[in-house]
Amino acid sequence: MTPSTKSPKNKKKNKGKKKKDRGLSAGTADRYELYQRSVNSPETDVDFVTRVFEELRGRPLRRLREDFCGTAAFAAEFLGRHPENRAEGFDLDPKPCEWGKRHNFAPKGKDVAERMTWHLADVRSPADVPPEATVAFNFSYWCFKSRPEMVAYFRSVREDLAPDGLFFIDLYGGPDALIEQEEVRDIDGAFDYVWEQRSWEPGSGTYRTAIHFRFRDGSEMRSAFEYEWRFWHLTELRDVLLDAGFQEVESYFEGTDPDDPEEGDGEFTADPIGENCEAWLAYLVARK
Ligand SMILES: C[S@@+](CC[C@H](N)C(=O)[O-])C[C@H]1O[C@@H](n2cnc3c(N)ncnc32)[C@H](O)[C@@H]1O
Repeated sequence: MTPSTKSPKNKKKNKGKKKKDRGLSAGTADRYELYQRSVNSPETDVDFVTRVFEELRGRPLRRLREDFCGTAAFAAEFLGRHPENRAEGFDLDPKPCEWGKRHNFAPKGKDVAERMTWHLADVRSPADVPPEATVAFNFSYWCFKSRPEMVAYFRSVREDLAPDGLFFIDLYGGPDALIEQEEVRDIDGAFDYVWEQRSWEPGSGTYRTAIHFRFRDGSEMRSAFEYEWRFWHLTELRDVLLDAGFQEVESYFEGTDPDDPEEGDGEFTADPIGENCEAWLAYLVARK
């Protein structure tokens, strides 16, 4: 996968402002900050989810649940958009949540922070208030490696949703996704983000990946994040969502940049077929 393909991590087009990055080094850099700058694109994700929710349900989205929320960059962006928006975030690890409170919520003020409920809990736990939309982004749900586990997770999401709720997941695929390789991407001229696809086992589906960061001073933060997932194909996931009781599942694929046929344009539209390119990104939207 080259940095210019529609790769999983190319969805994350940095809309953010460039920061003063002199002195960034492996020993002192903050791995969550590096991760967010390289991987997350909350504005784009929130644009997509709120637009599709409004198109399908005819009203604005006000109650969100973010599973595997980590630093909850998505929820923070959503809450900042409207004073009636509320969110619940679920993650087992307190470290990214604490980081998110300090860096994503505190700067937005008390009002935003108060409309967020954090759950240091498994994603299969119920929300306090049934969400109108639940999101599980950045492929985190691939941690469920067997079909029964994935069915059970999707079923718990479905049961937890409000009666006409929607479930959003993202995924990627294409032949490049299964190749053992590193993809290097420059972030704001400040550091390199390295997405390593370490291994994929065709027999078990086990898929190991890692994120490294390389700095202009020659230092490297190796294995800043490591994942062991199952690689799930879109068609399998659609079947599992339907088996879990969702009524309808639609795929949304990214369009092609008119100036560069190798690059995605960041626009996702409903498309039941998709394009057989080397690497693609999609969202699945499942209706309760
Ligand atoms: C790849 S990070 C994704 C963070 C965030 N969704 C994002 O887009 O950047 C995966 C997160 O899932 C959390 N996690 C893994 N298994 C979980 C589970 N069963 N229940 C809740 N959180 C879980 C981890 O603690 C980690 O913070």
